[in-house]
Amino acid sequence: MEQHKRPPASLLFIFGGSGDLNYRKLSPALYNLFIDQWMPEKFGIVGIGRTDYENDAYRQHLLEGIQQFSRRKGEQNGQWKEFSRHVTYLRMDAENESEYQKIAAIVAEKEKEFGEHPNVIFYMAVAPQLVPDIASKLGPLNICSDTKCTRIVVEKPFGHDLESAHRLNLLLSSMFDEEQIYRIDHYLGKETVQNILALRFANALFEPIWNRNYIDHVQITAAETVGVEGRGGYYEQSGALRDMVQNHMLQLLCMVAMEAPVSFNANEIRNKKVDVLNAIRKIRTEQAHEFAVRGQYGEGWMKGEKIAGYRQEKGVDPESGTDTFAAVKFHIDNWRWQGVPFYVRTGKRMNQKTTIITIQFRPAPHYSFPPEAAETWRPNRLTISIAPEMDIRLRFQAKHPGQSLSLSPVDMIFSYKDAYETDEPEAYETLLLDVMEGNATLFMRADQVEAAWKLVMPILEAWENRPPVDFPNYSPDSWGPEDAEALIARDGHNWVSLPTKNDK
Ligand code: BG6
Repeated sequence: MEQHKRPPASLLFIFGGSGDLNYRKLSPALYNLFIDQWMPEKFGIVGIGRTDYENDAYRQHLLEGIQQFSRRKGEQNGQWKEFSRHVTYLRMDAENESEYQKIAAIVAEKEKEFGEHPNVIFYMAVAPQLVPDIASKLGPLNICSDTKCTRIVVEKPFGHDLESAHRLNLLLSSMFDEEQIYRIDHYLGKETVQNILALRFANALFEPIWNRNYIDHVQITAAETVGVEGRGGYYEQSGALRDMVQNHMLQLLCMVAMEAPVSFNANEIRNKKVDVLNAIRKIRTEQAHEFAVRGQYGEGWMKGEKIAGYRQEKGVDPESGTDTFAAVKFHIDNWRWQGVPFYVRTGKRMNQKTTIITIQFRPAPHYSFPPEAAETWRPNRLTISIAPEMDIRLRFQAKHPGQSLSLSPVDMIFSYKDAYETDEPEAYETLLLDVMEGNATLFMRADQVEAAWKLVMPILEAWENRPPVDFPNYSPDSWGPEDAEALIARDGHNWVSLPTKNDK
């Protein structure tokens, strides 16, 4: 196995230790890091929750999660036994301030055991409304004033709107330095998303054409086949625009649109990304209908299975006006992107699970071939498939073999699966390792979160002021409401769903 430098001694406290996020994502990620020898030589993981667990029962519970959700199942030749020795459970009422002394005592005990002061990481894997309260009870602990070693990890949603996000930022910054706060957007931990930076900035080929002179428009699609998966209660307060566009989709857009960073320093990358958010043209509330489309799925069929409509999901108002689909057209007012629309769309219960970015280039300026040679002529296109397919395709024109002159588009494909034998790490593996190493590059800074909220607020306000009259307006297994097609068709384009050879 490849030798690498491991992170320094770390002690992780997971609030929500008996919850779903830990069960499905965090524990599998930590276990995989352990198998790959990325966990520190000295570490401890403390799950915190209200449920009553003995350590052994807790470990067994986590093992079940790993068997179900980890990319590597099972006990891996006794590695689970070794790993689980580092895992303990702390039953604690997080609302009771005096209980926080238990945490301080564990830190002191581990410090003795490790023979050094470890990184202390507080992971908020709890419902968003609990975060302010827990953070304010943690803040006064002595360990939190250690700005170098103590970190707090906050999951999305980061606030419910601009005001609440701002309040949460103020609260956190009254107790922690910005360098201690790790706001997670799991999309940034995906291999394929990080690879956008490599593609753009480690190659001399793309950057000269990565601008308005060569690019016609950009599309970003994040489509899911699942519904709200039992999270109706949360989703009713959220909707697609808050759940996906404010964070994941705008982050993808920033990766595509940012200027070249001078270095890989966390703040340098984040500065370049926030510049994009600040340059996006504000959509005014009264313009929302021109630039944004919302949708909600009704009942229907998917792959032979009867699907309940969103309004029939558990925890959902039978007359709900919540968006399960959102599409927005953004403009970026800077030299690089003036006049290049960025279309983003996301939805639940769509025809395919796919996240792709499409960079559509302008047509060749002059076409010298006879018309019959080029009946299927298409402009160049670069498609970055983020998930579940993981590839990058460049479409260009080629001549059919044979005596007649006939041209058609072909794809040059880089596929992760074909190129590398190793499994790619899950996003949470990358992000948890970064937290232990103290690398905040892939995390959201306070100003980024607020800049993203500022962009979606007018649309949210417009939608709240005008309840939808046509919901549900798309069927399961479709590509969303017709208005979403119209949004892009008005500019003479159409949505690209899967990179096939001949679609435009
Ligand atoms: C989460 C959203 O942030 O991202 C979910 O809250 C969504 O609603 C999920 O399903 C999608 O993530 P991925 O990695 O499956 O594309």
